[in-house]
Amino acid sequence: MMTTLLLLFSCLILRPIAASYATSVNLLETRSFELQTNQNAQPDAGTVKRPPSRNRKKPLRKPDVIYYPTPDETVIEMLRLADIKKGDVLYDLGSGDGRIPIVAAQQYGIRAVGIEIDPKMVTVAEERARQANVEGLVSFRNADMFRSDISEATVVTLYLSDKLNLLLRPKLLTELRPGSRILSHDFHMGDWKAERMIRVPWEKGLFRTIYFWRVPAHGTKGNAKRPR
Ligand SMILES: C[S@@+](CC[C@H](N)C(=O)[O-])C[C@H]1O[C@@H](n2cnc3c(N)ncnc32)[C@H](O)[C@@H]1O
Repeated sequence: MMTTLLLLFSCLILRPIAASYATSVNLLETRSFELQTNQNAQPDAGTVKRPPSRNRKKPLRKPDVIYYPTPDETVIEMLRLADIKKGDVLYDLGSGDGRIPIVAAQQYGIRAVGIEIDPKMVTVAEERARQANVEGLVSFRNADMFRSDISEATVVTLYLSDKLNLLLRPKLLTELRPGSRILSHDFHMGDWKAERMIRVPWEKGLFRTIYFWRVPAHGTKGNAKRPR
């Protein structure tokens, strides 16, 4: 009697539980295999090749400075001070939401490039450029400004920090052509004295400062200490 009861219990209760557990494990394994397969899948011909999304979400490395936007009036004054002409190419190093390249393209019709380490900000900037109808003139690169070729720029804009400006100075002085203009919002360039400095009124009686330099002839010192 006892044996019959045990047999019945095993058939009716234990076996279905075991079967359902096995099915879930199988499903999990299948799903994880699908995920692995999809990660390795090649895009169809004609589809846009993008890096796996997890790579596009994280900054390439820790940003040197956090995102904080230049106020609109200061953007306008930076561009006015740059004395932009047809044929100029503007680079914004650490371009955030892309506002400086976008306004440069909108107001002056020039080509502008933003270099930004955080891919999320690049996505935001690309969307803003589309909305402003300047995606043909503006492009954004998810890259580290210290490792980017900036030699085609004739105007460079910065909103970083005093320390980063100093670290960038040798690159600016060697890669940019003589006569190229550099504008920095709020931060100076050590003992490289700015050719011009203006103040833009901001909130509550405060103001923003814009510094302006021109790259001297290569091989001459200008008023800047050239890198050794
Ligand atoms: C203060 S925000 C300025 C944004 C924009 N240029 C503006 O003026 O509105 C600085 C930006 O630099 C980016 N950044 C920091 N380190 C960087 C690096 N090494 N290369 C490229 N971008 C960087 C940050 O992610 C941030 O978006």
